[in-house]
Amino acid sequence: MAGAQFSSRGRTSRVLAVLFCLWGLISSSCAARMSISRQKLEVQKHLKRLNKPALKSIESSDGDTIDCVDISQQPAFDHPFLKDHKIQMRPNYHPEGLFDENKATAKPIERSSPITQLWHQNGRCPEGTIPIRRTKKDDVLRASSAKRYGRKKHRSIPQPRSADPDLINQSGHQHAIAYVEGDKYYGAKATINVWEPKIQQANEFSLSQLWILGGSFGEDLNSIEAGWQVSPDLYGDNNTRLFTYWTSDAYQATGCYNLLCSGFIQVNSQIAMGASISPVSAYRNSQYDISILVWKDPKEGHWWMQFGNDYVLGYWPSFLFSYLAESASMIEWGGEVVNSQADGKHTSTQMGSGHFPEEGFGKSSYFRNVQVVDDSNNLKAPKGIGTFTEQSNCYDVQTGSNGDWGHYFYYGGPGRNPNCA
Ligand SMILES: *[C@@H]1O[C@H](CO)[C@@H](O)[C@H](O)[C@H]1NC(C)=O
Ligand SMILES: *[C@@H]1O[C@H](CO)[C@@H](O)[C@H](O)[C@H]1NC(C)=O
Repeated sequence: MAGAQFSSRGRTSRVLAVLFCLWGLISSSCAARMSISRQKLEVQKHLKRLNKPALKSIESSDGDTIDCVDISQQPAFDHPFLKDHKIQMRPNYHPEGLFDENKATAKPIERSSPITQLWHQNGRCPEGTIPIRRTKKDDVLRASSAKRYGRKKHRSIPQPRSADPDLINQSGHQHAIAYVEGDKYYGAKATINVWEPKIQQANEFSLSQLWILGGSFGEDLNSIEAGWQVSPDLYGDNNTRLFTYWTSDAYQATGCYNLLCSGFIQVNSQIAMGASISPVSAYRNSQYDISILVWKDPKEGHWWMQFGNDYVLGYWPSFLFSYLAESASMIEWGGEVVNSQADGKHTSTQMGSGHFPEEGFGKSSYFRNVQVVDDSNNLKAPKGIGTFTEQSNCYDVQTGSNGDWGHYFYYGGPGRNPNCA
């Protein structure tokens, strides 16, 4: 289907196909024509829903088109519960005091952020708009169906100390993570260095992120996720991209990546979800990292996200969630890959830098200054960090702490190797 012609004549050709069939010339080619034109229509409708009218468009050198969409026209407002929602342009509260003008200890916003998004080379979006990565026909066609596009498959959440080890392994997702649980959490922060892991198969991915989790690991798990990922299926290339994800029912019917469904409300005009991050770290060479902070506004209850020191991206309204409308019960940080075992062996898809934690700085991937937001809305060091990995011979994790980096861990690995077949 990937090379099929796509045109606005979809509806006409469908009508013709129907008439053709009504004339009694029922044949398999007739049925096939109808199914192809139905799929075309579905893709077309989906693209129309996702791609909002742009006030300005910017072509990025990686092949992306970034549309600057009026902030009030963004996908979130397709949600029936958000029809009359008044956008909050900034949070009432920030765990680092950035928005509290009266607080003497307010931290100045640092301006020197070496990491940017690739499309910035070719322009910026005007105030009052938000940048949205345009979804192309091929993006949707790579998904199993238009409806599945932009959504995770069921059960990929790392589940430390699960009662059923078989269940852990059967999804084919592998993790190397650090986590805390057993308290009420109101957010989390980490500084993550950015790599471009090699992906063996187009239907696999490699990502590094934090998870804010609420509820049990059953059907109603709530999750807010943010980090970087390489996902050929989702984006059509091997670039490292900033992403977010949310679900309120364990990846079944609700939620999506980035702005690919209505939910997240973006207020920032500079950072596009799903856009390529540049530059990335290189082995024994320059290291680049990004900071991600997600926290719950104690006044409105929305979950806000900040990228780096400068960019408050927007928020997930609290009504999207059940458990997370109250607080999170678990925080996880780390890497995840899909091990599809396409050739019957463990995948060689890399996690992080593709090197094991033992190699340390400049070679391994890390999360540093790992923190949680407590019930008085302050960032603090997490207590009782645990680690989890399905197969430490494939991908591993090692924690530590020091003055500079606070709590940190190295994680990742090459996947397939003599000890991981
Ligand atoms: C997952 O499967 C691998 C290979 O079969 C096994 O070595 C590993 O112990 C399993 N992990 C868990 C947590 O059951
Ligand atoms: C992504 O990388 C794989 C190898 O790791 C390569 O086979 C594939 O062609 C690349 N895809 C693109 C779109 O560059």
